[in-house]
Amino acid sequence: MPNSFKKRDIIAIGDFAKEELLHVLEHTRQIKKMAPGKLLEGCILGSCFFEPSTRTRLSFEAAMHRLGGSVIGFSDGQWTSAKKGESLWDSMKMLEHYADVIVLRHPLEGSAQRAAEAVEIPVINAGDGSNQHPTQTFLDLFTILECQGSLDNLSIAMAGDLKNGRTVHSLAQALTFFNPRLYLVSPTILEMPKEICDELREKRIKFSFHKSLEEIMDKIDILYMTRIQEERFSHKFEYEQVKNAFILKTDQLQSVKKNLKILHPLPRVNEIAGEVDQSPHAYYFQQAQNGLFARQALLGLVLGKLT
Ligand code: CP
Repeated sequence: MPNSFKKRDIIAIGDFAKEELLHVLEHTRQIKKMAPGKLLEGCILGSCFFEPSTRTRLSFEAAMHRLGGSVIGFSDGQWTSAKKGESLWDSMKMLEHYADVIVLRHPLEGSAQRAAEAVEIPVINAGDGSNQHPTQTFLDLFTILECQGSLDNLSIAMAGDLKNGRTVHSLAQALTFFNPRLYLVSPTILEMPKEICDELREKRIKFSFHKSLEEIMDKIDILYMTRIQEERFSHKFEYEQVKNAFILKTDQLQSVKKNLKILHPLPRVNEIAGEVDQSPHAYYFQQAQNGLFARQALLGLVLGKLT
């Protein structure tokens, strides 16, 4: 397959065909087995994080270093000229001259698309507000494939803040290629956005809404937990009402399928009790580690060093 990723922006998961998703997963599988190398020697990553991040930023930066490249950037927009009123457009125009690829996290939906329009070098969306988080989806798909042996015909529950959780928006869209049965578990005010549900219906994906984990625990292969995103609420009292909606504990794992794996994009607050970490069903730390390999694959592809 010719490299359709070379010089390409990675903005939304819906921009990719099934074969392209699988192509990234295959590169991720190969890179996971490889020692660090020099594939991206001489290349510079512009790492631009206007919102907090631990995994996405550090795994992208580690991915670049592991492939022999180097990194410039910032982890807090307050220390850039955005603080003096510089537009995102102008900031990106500058970065274009300093870096070969930009990874951008920003609180505004559509910001990654806007950045991509400003520059000629590839822009990778590392999360734009509540909208999309496509690189998380590549690592999520890889992890599901790794722990289940297949992506097809799985029963998958997504639980927590499905309204504001950009990871579940991107993941639900990607899963439409693999005929899943989806269980959407959330408080009413945090249900999956209508546009995503409409897309699921259009693609004839079976899904249902639930209010408690107990209703679905014995049916599923993957439980994808998410954090209730306090920072996206306009009113504190609304957050207080739902902040403890789901707290997964080991006693809820008594009657689950043997192959069940629990995923979470992390960070978690209190939605998975610490005791669950010891369960054979817990797989969220392996999932986070896979981010390093998926991001190495994506950097290699968009910089044209992988085919
Ligand atoms: N999963 C994820 O995006 O984590 P960070 O916010 O720590 O990058």
